[in-house]
Amino acid sequence: MGLAPRQFASVAAEVAAQAAGLIRPGMRLGLGTGRMASAFIEALRPRIQEGLRVQGLCSSKASELLARDVGIELLSTSDGALDLDVDGADEFDSSINLLKGGGGALLREKVVAEHSRRFWLLADSSKQVAQLASLHPLPVEVLPFDWEGTAALCEARFACQAEVRGGAEGPVVTDNGNYLVDLHFPGGLADPGEVALRLSGIAGVLGHGLFLGLATAAIVFDAGGVRVLGNLDSERTP
Ligand code: A5P
Repeated sequence: MGLAPRQFASVAAEVAAQAAGLIRPGMRLGLGTGRMASAFIEALRPRIQEGLRVQGLCSSKASELLARDVGIELLSTSDGALDLDVDGADEFDSSINLLKGGGGALLREKVVAEHSRRFWLLADSSKQVAQLASLHPLPVEVLPFDWEGTAALCEARFACQAEVRGGAEGPVVTDNGNYLVDLHFPGGLADPGEVALRLSGIAGVLGHGLFLGLATAAIVFDAGGVRVLGNLDSERTP
């Protein structure tokens, strides 16, 4: 059962508080971007006020601002593996493969995820799909130089429709100074692994929103309750 928009914030805050309750002193955290990641960072505030000390590597300027305000000690680089990354997603499948980047922070989010031994997805159940990219376009971060050519190459190679993110004022610029191109795949991706591999072969593509094999567990919620996919203690070799 999906959540009504006005229920979302309060249930998301409760779930984020449950996740924050599992954080142990001294942990080195990856901090994602978006509503769920922000709810998690915010949920750490009372624990930090009670004396919890944790460090965090932020995946965006927005998360960095919030983490600083909450009192999380910021890591400027991961300087070794992180214990746990906590982030949201736009879509996830039954193997906890993710589609991310709706908020535009996909490239740093993936760098942070790759440096983490564990990665918990926090998401409401309406984001679960049979095939990734069936509800949202696949975001791709591209080099501004000849972004039109990169978008055209994506359209030609994947038979999709490519749309630069932005409006009348021009393309949205990411925290890394790049542009975002959203790839529309009607019906979703039958083989996301192949698409990920082939996107990596395009020089102007700096990153994409397919996070395959990175999440180690998911905390999924809806009006009916909370369930865990995978094992919260499972680790991945970064
Ligand atoms: C940021 O670019 C995204 O990857 C977000 O993590 C994703 O869009 C999920 O955001 P919400 O938690 O706000 O739904």
